[in-house]
Amino acid sequence: MSYFQITGGPRLIGEVDVAGSKNIALALMSAVVLADGVTILHNVPDVSDTRAKSRLLERCGVRVQWREGSVLFETKGLTSHVGDDETSRSIRTSFYLLGPLLARTGEASLPVPGGCAIGARPVDFHLKGLALMGAEVHLDRGVYRAKTSGLHGAEIYLDFPSAGATQHLMATATLAQGPTVIQNAAAEPEVVALAEFLNHMGARVEGAGTSTVTVLGVLSLQPCTFAVPSDRLQAGTYLMAGAITRGDVTVRGVLPEHLTAVTNKLQQAGAQIEEGPDWVRVRVDRRLKSIRVKTMPYPGFSTDLQQPMAALLTLAEGTSVVEETIYESRTGHVPELNRMGADIRIEGRSAVINGVESLQAATVEASDLRAGAALCLAALAADGQTLIRNVHFIDRGYQGLEFSLRALGARIERLPDHEAVPRMEESASET
Ligand code: EPU
Repeated sequence: MSYFQITGGPRLIGEVDVAGSKNIALALMSAVVLADGVTILHNVPDVSDTRAKSRLLERCGVRVQWREGSVLFETKGLTSHVGDDETSRSIRTSFYLLGPLLARTGEASLPVPGGCAIGARPVDFHLKGLALMGAEVHLDRGVYRAKTSGLHGAEIYLDFPSAGATQHLMATATLAQGPTVIQNAAAEPEVVALAEFLNHMGARVEGAGTSTVTVLGVLSLQPCTFAVPSDRLQAGTYLMAGAITRGDVTVRGVLPEHLTAVTNKLQQAGAQIEEGPDWVRVRVDRRLKSIRVKTMPYPGFSTDLQQPMAALLTLAEGTSVVEETIYESRTGHVPELNRMGADIRIEGRSAVINGVESLQAATVEASDLRAGAALCLAALAADGQTLIRNVHFIDRGYQGLEFSLRALGARIERLPDHEAVPRMEESASET
């Protein structure tokens, strides 16, 4: 267990190369089992979620080798057994292996998945889609057990454009017999990247990035080599880190069109934005203004950047409203930001943020990945030295966050457990 110690104040200035996308890497790692042989993924972020996914693949007989950002997956020994409850429960996308394993081996068992605690996160769309494709799935003491005598194409309508269900069903359908049409599909760049990867393997996926995805099943897929595109969520976080410190930050290796919702909101709040073919620059030289933000499926404002955006708006002039429509309880950052002097109250699905002049350092606790990112941003702008506990949540998705922030001028250190001080109220209660 480690801590971040952040001394607020320095304006962040400079350029940062954005690492590979966690969520794309995790989706591709579910799909590698669809082909027989060695698939190589480049630019895989080395974060705890991708490491957990590697362990899970090894449980299914896949040989996984990490070589400095590239990962080799040898699937010759593939089996359908996944007995590792702890690892499966630690990430959401463990479940997205169910369909691809079923397509390859005819049966699969996977524990109910976990992931960040930000809402109920059911898997009913996945189950409905798999059943329509000819899978029999039942829940047996916390484990989904699935079998099929052969998957076939189906017409699937998603009640909500779920990124995970779209990816899971799209990957599964590549080896089903006949065409599958997914209506009300998610249009996230993560879905498009997976479709490109599957097509590299010989699949026939069309329409990814629109609300209708069609998959024409093929008999087999071939292993391939593919580079994971950069992480738009990490890029958005760095842009906000630049903005909250009234700095000047350029994120490189990104597609600006994937960040339109963020850059638009930053501009509305008073930040200056410049874009090139593969970079985005943010500059802020005065106090930002309050804005309204509502999370939506892509191309709307991403739920994953809602918490960092709330941190940014704690210091904006006036009252901002951040409405979360995707998850019912993605609010773990709110009490911790208030502990730092923010003025946020929850009203239904919205955070109502009255901008304050300054934030003060405190000992705070990350409750999930993006809440942790939000606390880092607040700490970068706060007066004094903030200590952020539960850094392991941040390590799920941000590769080397402290190195990137330090390169931009931040004063951030990772401390081992024993060097951190307790919260004030804890030391008080101990005496
Ligand atoms: N939903 C259902 N039933 C389902 C599937 C989803 O009701 O069967 C609901 C969810 O409960 C949620 C909404 O649909 O309310 C959207 O969920 P979605 O399936 O799109 O999310 P996910 O695939 O579980 C991925 C990312 C999340 C990101 C969401 C939304 C990964 C590993 N996770 O989750 O990322 O918030 O899409 O874009 O790809 C993160 O990176 O911090 C993170 C949580």
